[in-house]
Amino acid sequence: MAIKRIGVLTSGGDAPGMNPCVRAVVRAALYRGIECYGIRRGYNGLINGDVVKLDEKSVSHTINRGGTILYTARSKEFMTEEGQRKAASTCKFLGLDGIIAIGGDGTFRGALALSKFGVNVIGIPGTIDNDIACTNYCIGFDTAANTAIECIDKLRDTMQSHERCSVVEVMGRNAGYLAMYVGLACGATAVLVPEKPIDFEQDVVEKIRQARLNGFTHYMIVVAEGAGSASAIAEQIKEATDLDPRVTVLGHIQRGGTPTGRDRVNATKMGYLAVELLKEGKTNRIVCTQDGGFTDIDIDEALAMHKNIQQMEIDVLAAMTGI
Ligand code: F6P
Repeated sequence: MAIKRIGVLTSGGDAPGMNPCVRAVVRAALYRGIECYGIRRGYNGLINGDVVKLDEKSVSHTINRGGTILYTARSKEFMTEEGQRKAASTCKFLGLDGIIAIGGDGTFRGALALSKFGVNVIGIPGTIDNDIACTNYCIGFDTAANTAIECIDKLRDTMQSHERCSVVEVMGRNAGYLAMYVGLACGATAVLVPEKPIDFEQDVVEKIRQARLNGFTHYMIVVAEGAGSASAIAEQIKEATDLDPRVTVLGHIQRGGTPTGRDRVNATKMGYLAVELLKEGKTNRIVCTQDGGFTDIDIDEALAMHKNIQQMEIDVLAAMTGI
């Protein structure tokens, strides 16, 4: 079947680079003679027919913008069979030959549900959490990491002057990739991630003690949101060491901002590849990076995969933090 008209949506938490990706989908589609429609507010937009025609003009000046011009949502209604049926019926009614969904795990589960109603779907990984198992790279991670690194570098200046301990909470409700990467990049004293059970004495107190014994008088503890609240950890540090830690929660700052070059270029390549897949008649695929190159994988297979923090990162962190 020749693909004539497609839709693109962003869903779940936004990520810097979603706009360049939408732009790439639109431009690649037009290049192939395919009409492109933006579905606004994630899967809610499909349920409600919240659809807007996109052309070169609608995506101009978006390659450098954070957020998503299509808006995003975590749709409760789409989690129901009735919601999925309505969304599929919108696709049928509008004659959409395929949907490109940019987002994380939840977005791909949604895409899979939609495919069960006969809709052609392609997923593109976009989440600052970088927790999609089938891909090494997710759109937004690079920008979010660099934002967090810049903030922590600034914190370090004042922590050093005052000889303080800083506890910084970075995003990642269920995943510690951002925390681990940022912790390595910032020379953290300790990094706490949800994937690894915490032995507070060994993983925090002993690290601070070692740093002090090695002549340091400021300490940077990086905590992933899902590993515990920064203020609770600061309290525990205070009790155990008599230090008076300062707490910083970076929060949604990490989800905004101009996408980095890496996020822009990868988002552009992924958007282009997603259109090519639909054009070739493929469906139920996720565009991903593996072994340094771009490829695609079946959604079912991708969702069954499990990702964990690399042992090498744990080993390197252990070496860098002195124990
Ligand atoms: O998009 C992923 C993420 O940023 C997680 O790291 C974080 O836990 C969550 O979204 C926050 O979601 P919300 O924007 O709904 O507060």
